[in-house]
Amino acid sequence: MGAAGHARRSCLAVPGSNPKMLGKAQGLPADQVFLDLEDAVAPLAKPGARKNIVAALRDGDWAGKARVVRVNDLTTQWTYRDVLEIVEGAGEFLDAIMLPKVQEPAHVQWLDLTLTQLEKALGLPVGGIGIEAQIENAKGLVNVDAIAAASPRVETIIFGPADFMASINMRSLAVGALHPGYPGDPYHYILMRILMAARTYDLQAIDGPYLQIRDIDGFREVAKRSAALGFDGKWVLHPDQIEAANQVYSPDQGDYDHAELILDAYEYWTSEAGGKRGAVMLGDEMIDEASRKMALVIAAKGRAAGL
Ligand code: GLV
Ligand code: MG
Repeated sequence: MGAAGHARRSCLAVPGSNPKMLGKAQGLPADQVFLDLEDAVAPLAKPGARKNIVAALRDGDWAGKARVVRVNDLTTQWTYRDVLEIVEGAGEFLDAIMLPKVQEPAHVQWLDLTLTQLEKALGLPVGGIGIEAQIENAKGLVNVDAIAAASPRVETIIFGPADFMASINMRSLAVGALHPGYPGDPYHYILMRILMAARTYDLQAIDGPYLQIRDIDGFREVAKRSAALGFDGKWVLHPDQIEAANQVYSPDQGDYDHAELILDAYEYWTSEAGGKRGAVMLGDEMIDEASRKMALVIAAKGRAAGL
């Protein structure tokens, strides 16, 4: 339980109301699945979806994927029962709960305390179930640092572009895509804000969905922007997006090879100099301790991706 160090390049959305997709998702090569009780599930279908999800977690073979359930947000009447039924029914088969539309640290603290109660009552390890916090409106973004710090259970901060765009009155219907009326990246500030909070508290930063599911080139373009900033992964809504996400959020082979070369060269030349040199040459490139740290980030991601 818990998936703090788990790769999350591709986070697959699976509606809890669709047993066929709950079955199919198990065999797909996504790093994470999140079984949804929120916006992909109609109000009348929510009780049935809870039962489907419990059965899929208990009986399914999720093949090493991080297993996450997205509950409804705390302004609804559904949240407490979502958490109760999922954790009572399948707490030992669950890595994290995703909480959407988080606006303040108290929302995370409510979930933390509720999970602690359930874990104690069920004899599960206390603190074992992680929390993923979705930032989907202005208040959530303004409070993102406190939200990231609100509980040691928090593992990821996730950008929710559709709800976010609606909540700030952004004049666009193209979720995740660049805005034709704006000469820049309208998401840059939001992504950076989330990334800084995530890195401050050693959490993963996850980009949200791209709704044009047939447009894989468009998906890649959007994903490349957040990957370039340092995001760890992105939501995928369709099996076709999975491979693209796994590729975009892994370093490419050239960068990976270069990173390993920097690490080797830096270690070799600095030890050769008996610890007396801080900066050394690798071909025409000067490398120092900061280069080593940058190389380590890329090398670690590449090694995890099996490059
Ligand atoms: C995801 O939940 C979004 O609102 O984009
Ligand atoms: Mg949303």
